[in-house]
Amino acid sequence: MRRESPSIGAVLLLLIPLGFAGAAQNETNPPWNAPEAARQVKNPVKPTKEGLAVSAKLFRENCMTCHGESGAGDGPVADSLMRHPANFTDEKMMSEATDGELFWKITTGRGPMPSWQDQLSETERWQLVNYLRMLTEKAADDKVDKKEGQEKPQ
Ligand code: HEC
Repeated sequence: MRRESPSIGAVLLLLIPLGFAGAAQNETNPPWNAPEAARQVKNPVKPTKEGLAVSAKLFRENCMTCHGESGAGDGPVADSLMRHPANFTDEKMMSEATDGELFWKITTGRGPMPSWQDQLSETERWQLVNYLRMLTEKAADDKVDKKEGQEKPQ
């Protein structure tokens, strides 16, 4: 059974009751912690080329409007949200987060981020965790490339 991916319009509709409309820029942002048991859950899905291709598409369709193409938290609607979307290119934040925790947050959601429990299968959610890891690595590699480029100009 295939679901249609939500359009930007649908995402915006979803945001209105969550405070999108007149959202102040700096609402309180209490820390968002996954339960310890959820943090410990191991990722049962190995990152494969095929899996990453599937999750790239899922990310583009469901996550990019907020989290941005490279995952830097700078999607087209990011600035109008009551909370800033997580930045997956932040190596420190990502190294502290376990796969289980990322999975739990994707599953649970916290306004304005929706819960994906009923929208995406468990496998898809784990594949997305692998994709987020890939985005973090890619951002780190890009940074190294830039630095090397500066030190050893061609
Ligand atoms: C409507 C905008 C929006 C969409 C769409 C969205 N997110 Fe988020 N996401 C957020 C915001 C805002 C936060 C920060 C929430 C907080 O700190 O309470 C967040 C946080 C997260 C986090 C937690 C990071 C951490 O360690 O704290 C993960 C993981 C995540 N999003 C993954 C996804 C994935 C995967 C998708 C697509 C399936 C997605 N998000 C779609 C807005 C969105």
